[in-house]
Order: sequence, then structure tokens, then C-alpha cells
Amino acid sequence: MSAPNKSYDPVEVEALKPEEIDGARDAALAAFEAAADLEALREAKIAHTGDRSPLALANREIGALPPQAKAAAGKRVGQARGAVNKALAARQAVLEAERDERVLVEEAVDVTLPYDRAPVGARHPLTTLSERIEDIFVAMGYEVAEGPEVETEWFNFDALNLDPDHPARSTHDTFFVADERGGPDSGLVLRTHTSPVQIRSLLDREPPVYVICPGRTYRSDELDATHTPVFGQVELLAVDEGLTMADLKGTLDHMVQSLFGPEMRTRLRPNYFPFTEPSAEMDMVCFRCHGESVGDPDRPCRTCASEGWIELGGCGVVNPRVLVACGIDPERYSGFAFGFGIERMLMFRHGVADMRDIIEGDVRFTRPFGSEI
Ligand code: DAH
Repeated sequence: MSAPNKSYDPVEVEALKPEEIDGARDAALAAFEAAADLEALREAKIAHTGDRSPLALANREIGALPPQAKAAAGKRVGQARGAVNKALAARQAVLEAERDERVLVEEAVDVTLPYDRAPVGARHPLTTLSERIEDIFVAMGYEVAEGPEVETEWFNFDALNLDPDHPARSTHDTFFVADERGGPDSGLVLRTHTSPVQIRSLLDREPPVYVICPGRTYRSDELDATHTPVFGQVELLAVDEGLTMADLKGTLDHMVQSLFGPEMRTRLRPNYFPFTEPSAEMDMVCFRCHGESVGDPDRPCRTCASEGWIELGGCGVVNPRVLVACGIDPERYSGFAFGFGIERMLMFRHGVADMRDIIEGDVRFTRPFGSEI
């Protein structure tokens, strides 16, 4: 505010000169008109009606005028401010109406659009098959057990009777996990099979133990039609008093009959696994030709290569050394175990020729399985 005006002439105060006031008013009106949206108008409002705007400053100068000059100056400034506020309100109303109209258009919901065009989505057939297998065993009183995918070498190998020099260990094509310094001695691997969950289950529980352990496993295989470095296995373990190979056989038959039909059978071929003794390879009758392609060149079967049997996985009677490693008395308890790959099972069950189709995630592959949820 300037010092009291000696000459009593309001026109001497620069801010109150009529042309200044008219100029300030006109500048405000032009700025409001030019504001293209509410944000620009808000800025123009601050510039032209705010505390530091020319008209607000002029208004403050009125107080310093001599009484007889106040009325005229007050009227001029008041009229200018009135015009500015009116123009502001009018522009505000126009811009708000424009915005509301735009929002109505932009956010409009087309209620005539079909509501069911978005695909429902479905779980992957590997998941549903794995759960179906779990269900078969849960119905028989088994528990579902899980373990970590990054596993200690002890659980993955040693406790399963594969000591550091065991030849079977090298066939596992193991991914070793580096230690903090990038060195090889972390003692951790990406589990090469689900069999370590057998050990975890035996350490966590008191016999009798009946567990089914589905899970992801890793081996440094190249991805091709029949191999993938990440694959699923299902492991089964039963430890109780008096269990024998006969119980294993009956359990396997029940599983393949539940999955492939009542006429299914399995057979066991001697094999070697360090964690089972005796050990066997388990096959099931080819569900496509039921063995009828064998020796009949006129009826070749692509599913079993006319062998009549399809190899599923490994199995056997739990090696007493494994029981001892888990603190279980092998004189009192015995058990059986088996493990197989879930991708292979899916391939057989659904005639999938290339394993890559299962894992690539193309919905054109998964869609025919239906949207089982
Ligand atoms: N863990 C074995 C593998 O990945 C499969 C296997 C064989 C599991 C025999 C078992 C078994 O439980 O008894 O090659």
C-alpha cells in the first residue's frame, strides 16, 4: 500500500488509474475466455482474482485514499471486480458443462455389448491331471505332501541312499545352486525328483505314513518333443507295518484303472533305484491298442510303438537304509514308493505328441481340454 495521498487525487495512484483498472478487467476477461479447460481457468483465476492480482492490489489502495475520493475509486474497482467474477463464473459453468458431457461420452457403458465374450479361463491340464491323481489317493486315505523346489543335496541324494560317488547321481543332470560368492558349494540343488519329499514326510510324521507328493522338478535337459528341463512328478510313499510289493502292485493297478479305465493293468520289470530294494520299472497296458498291436503288422500302434505296454516310472519297496536315515525301525516297518512324470502321463492320456505343446502356454492347445476349474 502506498503512503497517504496528499493531493487527494485518486488518479495519481497508479493502480487506481481508470485505464489501469479497465486494462486489468479486460485482461482477466480475455484470460478466462482463452482458458480451454478447468485447469487453465483455475490458473487464470489465481492470476486475475487472487491476492496478488492487479485488481486486488487496486482494491487495497482504496483504503489509503482521502474520504472524498474513496467512493469513485471504490465504485470503479468494484464494478471491474464484479465483471471479472461474473465472467469467471460464466466460463466456469461452460467448461464444467463441457467436461460433464465429455465424461458421459468417454465413460459410457455400452449395455448392449455381449457380457460373455471374455473367456472364462481355465486351469492348465497338468494341474487338473495332477489333482485328479491326488484325489484318487486322498480317497484312499493318503495325505498330500509338499517340499521345496530348491533342495539340499542331502534330501535330494544322500538320504535317498545316493552317496556323493553314486553313479545314479550323475544321471540326474543336476542344476546346482551357487553359494553367495557364486561358488559351487552351497549344498543346494534344484530338486531332480520328488523323492526328497519322501524323506521330509518320514521325518515330519510317525508311521504309518501314506503320502502323495506332486511337484515340479528340474534337470538340465534340452527342451524337445520328449524332454523339458522343468517337469512335474508325482511321488507316492506308504510306510506301515507289513507292507509288501503286492500292496505296491495293487495300488498301481488301482491308479491306472481310475485314470484309464477298469480294464487297465500294470506290470513290473526289475530295475535299480538306490532308494528302493527291490526296485522296478512300472508299465501299464497300452490304453490305445490294449496290447493287440503286438506282433500284428497290420495294426501298428503309435502310442506304444506296438509294444503293448507304456512305461510310466519307477517304483519299489522302500530301501531299509532310507528308513534308518529317517529314524524308522526297518524291523517293524516297511513300505513302497513310486514316482512318475506328469507330462508323460498327460501325453498318454490325451494323445499329446509333443511335450513342448504342454508347456508353451498357447491357449489353442489348452482350450480343447475344456474350462475345468
Ligand atoms: N525318483 C525317481 C526318478 O526321478 C523315480 C522313482 C523311482 C521314484 C522309484 C520312486 C521310486 O519313488 O520308488 O527317476
